[in-house]
Amino acid sequence: MNGGKILVTGGAGYIGSHTATELLDAGHEVVVFDNFANSSRAAADALQVAANRDVAVVEGDVRDADALRRVFRGHDIRAVCHFAAKKAVAESFEQPLSYHDNNVVGTLRLVEQMAAHGVKTLVFSSSATVYGYPVSVPITENMPLAPINPYGRTKLACERLLGDLALSDAEWRISILRYFNPIGAHCSGLLGDSPQGVPTNLMPYIGAVAAGRLPRLRVFGDDYPTPDGTCIRDYIHVVDLAKGHLKALQWLAAAPGLAIHNLGTGAGHSVFEVARAFEEASGRSVPYDVAPRRPGDTPVLYADPSRAAAELEWRAEHGLRRMCEDAWRHVAASAA
Ligand code: UD1
Repeated sequence: MNGGKILVTGGAGYIGSHTATELLDAGHEVVVFDNFANSSRAAADALQVAANRDVAVVEGDVRDADALRRVFRGHDIRAVCHFAAKKAVAESFEQPLSYHDNNVVGTLRLVEQMAAHGVKTLVFSSSATVYGYPVSVPITENMPLAPINPYGRTKLACERLLGDLALSDAEWRISILRYFNPIGAHCSGLLGDSPQGVPTNLMPYIGAVAAGRLPRLRVFGDDYPTPDGTCIRDYIHVVDLAKGHLKALQWLAAAPGLAIHNLGTGAGHSVFEVARAFEEASGRSVPYDVAPRRPGDTPVLYADPSRAAAELEWRAEHGLRRMCEDAWRHVAASAA
């Protein structure tokens, strides 16, 4: 691959920091750009320890054209991995304008500045949330897109924006990656999912219960039409997911235009299975209560990852046990 640095927006966040680390491990130069709204300087420091490399860390917001301009002028950027976004579903119902501003306007400002500086290679962080309630599983990339929450609609709006951009100018190379449920952590324990406040996603919540920081897990519904009655999701190790971005960059080097890939394992696990696997991996108990269903949850979601396997030569390698072991190492290290 050619020289030049890779700009990682949201590089101090959960998926961004793991991807930055994998990029560094593979020998790439990285610039982290983050506003630290739901991340921390400590995470930006930790990724440099995890990768054993120094990285330029720029505090800034993707909606700030001047801040982006300074980055593109100050660094020889050749590609961007764009993670910076808000991602809490419930919050997106309360603050739709903030979600559209951060996620859609942020992406718009970013690609404007990329175009202005002749940088036309982008890996975009999308989500399986764009499928909404799927018509069937496993989910393939060409299934209908019908997100059921404002967060998902911002991701779809970004996908559409990028699609129009690719149509307008054949020089763009854009990879849209639709993530299923990333969990786990870097094997060092230095990086992980450390949301600010009370977690809303399952894995960080389980971790907090196992660590004794929260009393009990609330299992949102045990009366779904699944074998144990709890929802099934396609949990994917965040390091496997991060490696998918390297494969996407390699793909783009040979393939101009726009490509869309699901990143998932192709297998589903229930809430009870995840909680049990975490207990086994951590040696701690995860007490739970069954609570009412959470609005907007769909019973079963898992990917058909065969396009990514065929085109990107990417496959998730780690199973649920390993995801839990690594997540627990991070929880335990953070508590120490
Ligand atoms: C959610 C979002 C998705 C987003 C992803 C990462 C929806 C519909 N989807 O995925 O768009 O990309 O987070 O931010 O919200 N659960 C419990 N107790 C808890 C937390 C979760 O039982 O305290 C259950 C949920 O009901 C669900 C499963 O665990 O069945 C996974 O939940 P979560 O980790 O929040 O992910 P998703 O809802 O699948």
